[in-house]
Amino acid sequence: MLSSDYVQTVFQEKLIQKIMIEVRESISAQVTQKTYAEFHEKNNGEYLSEYINDAGNIEANAISKTFSLLSHGVLIIFATVALASYHLLFLPVILVLAMLMMLLPNKLGQPMAQATRNLSEGNAELSNHLTNYLNGFDVFFNFRRLAIYRQLVKKTSQHYASTKIAYTKTNARVTNTIGGLSIFCQIMVDIVTSVLAIMGLIPLGAISSTGNIAANVFNSLSSFSNEFVQIKATRPLFDKIKPQFSGKAVEEQVSAPIFRTMLEIKNLNYTVGNKVIFHQLNLKINKGGKYALVGKSGVGKSTLLKILSGQITNYSGQILIDGIDLHQFSQDQLVSLLQYVDQNVYLFNDTVANNISLWDQTLLDDNLKVALEKAEVDFTDTSKQMIAENGQNLSGGQKQRLALARFFYQPKLIALIDEGLSALDTQTATKIDEVLLNDKKLTLIEVNHHLSPEMIPKYDDVISLDQA
Ligand SMILES: Nc1ncnc2c1ncn2[C@@H]1O[C@H](COP(=O)(O)OP(=O)(O)OP(=O)(O)O)[C@@H](O)[C@H]1O
Ligand SMILES: [Mg+2]
Repeated sequence: MLSSDYVQTVFQEKLIQKIMIEVRESISAQVTQKTYAEFHEKNNGEYLSEYINDAGNIEANAISKTFSLLSHGVLIIFATVALASYHLLFLPVILVLAMLMMLLPNKLGQPMAQATRNLSEGNAELSNHLTNYLNGFDVFFNFRRLAIYRQLVKKTSQHYASTKIAYTKTNARVTNTIGGLSIFCQIMVDIVTSVLAIMGLIPLGAISSTGNIAANVFNSLSSFSNEFVQIKATRPLFDKIKPQFSGKAVEEQVSAPIFRTMLEIKNLNYTVGNKVIFHQLNLKINKGGKYALVGKSGVGKSTLLKILSGQITNYSGQILIDGIDLHQFSQDQLVSLLQYVDQNVYLFNDTVANNISLWDQTLLDDNLKVALEKAEVDFTDTSKQMIAENGQNLSGGQKQRLALARFFYQPKLIALIDEGLSALDTQTATKIDEVLLNDKKLTLIEVNHHLSPEMIPKYDDVISLDQA
């Protein structure tokens, strides 16, 4: 008996976890369908909450409860058959009362779904705030503001508590209503039993056993009904994580670009809120040209590179690659041509090799070696070496070199490098710059805050956004 319980429990858990993998796959599908701008409408804490809290709620309330629902359904059928064996009149009575109990979930489903939606938002907010404060832990530590950290976490915890209490209240109201109705139904069956016994249609001695069986039926029905409400209430969570296919995939697209002559920016306008970043900007970038992009902080250098690399799309004017509008290319096509190296380097808590090749299954050791050499990565003995979360075990300049190694591992025709060398000493920066500048095939746009007079002649042009 014990071993069969063990087998059933393990089998059930395996099935649940199989479904949960699919649930999280669905969240990933939804996340990866988003555009760059859509993804950044939410914070990471909210995504984390979908993977952990919403998925956890689905596991506890939709999937696990489906198993209980099934077993209660079977119990109801057997108990009803047993009751009907005493007298067939029990059948219609139970049927009517059961229908009454099953009508209830429809009424209670709405407030439970709303409570689930609110709880999901509460979870997202909690996760969001905690991620925010934890990511900034070093700041609290260094400014000796650890008490503030505790206060902030307590405040967000208190706020979450009220959401959870509201959810539990709705949940308890639902359970009570169903429980109350179940008692009413049992009394009705008891009345029917007594009438049948008085009329001599069932033996008096059967009253206690029919009472027990009826209690079984309505207890199971009560659980069934409750589980039904809980399962239905998870609907908003399924709606939230369901991938929404946009029409973009079927848009007509031109064939992958082959960069032949020129990248042209024509009458580019871009505004964020009320702030005009670009007004009628015109630029021509020749194939193989080497350009330094300069301008004061906040002028729009990174924004321009993000527009060219397809991360920002809501600009007006035209970006043309050999005369073809950038909007015509898919992000995949665009990235096959150019690579943006972000000013803010993100490194994964994984090996050097995975950080550079980005989990390339056909990792080519030679490519990796060349990439590490070109990016002057001389501080790791082995590509299997682990990098700490966001590269905390590395210096700023070391992180930049690993980001550049990512580019060198899979070089593209156009490199958009956003202050990739700003944290490096002049000697190392010059060495890497020379690799980039001497590559005849490469078209380079490099944001450079510290352009020395001797470096200027090495570029074909210095583009300043200050006057633009
Ligand atoms: N995601 C964003 N949402 C709203 N405004 C933004 C966003 N990113 C940048 N900005 C604004 O756009 C302007 C240009 O920013 P950008 O990052 O392009 O400047 P930058 O020239 O690269 O500056 P820096 O030299 O400091 O890196 C800034 O005023 C900034 O406040
Ligand atoms: Mg910038």
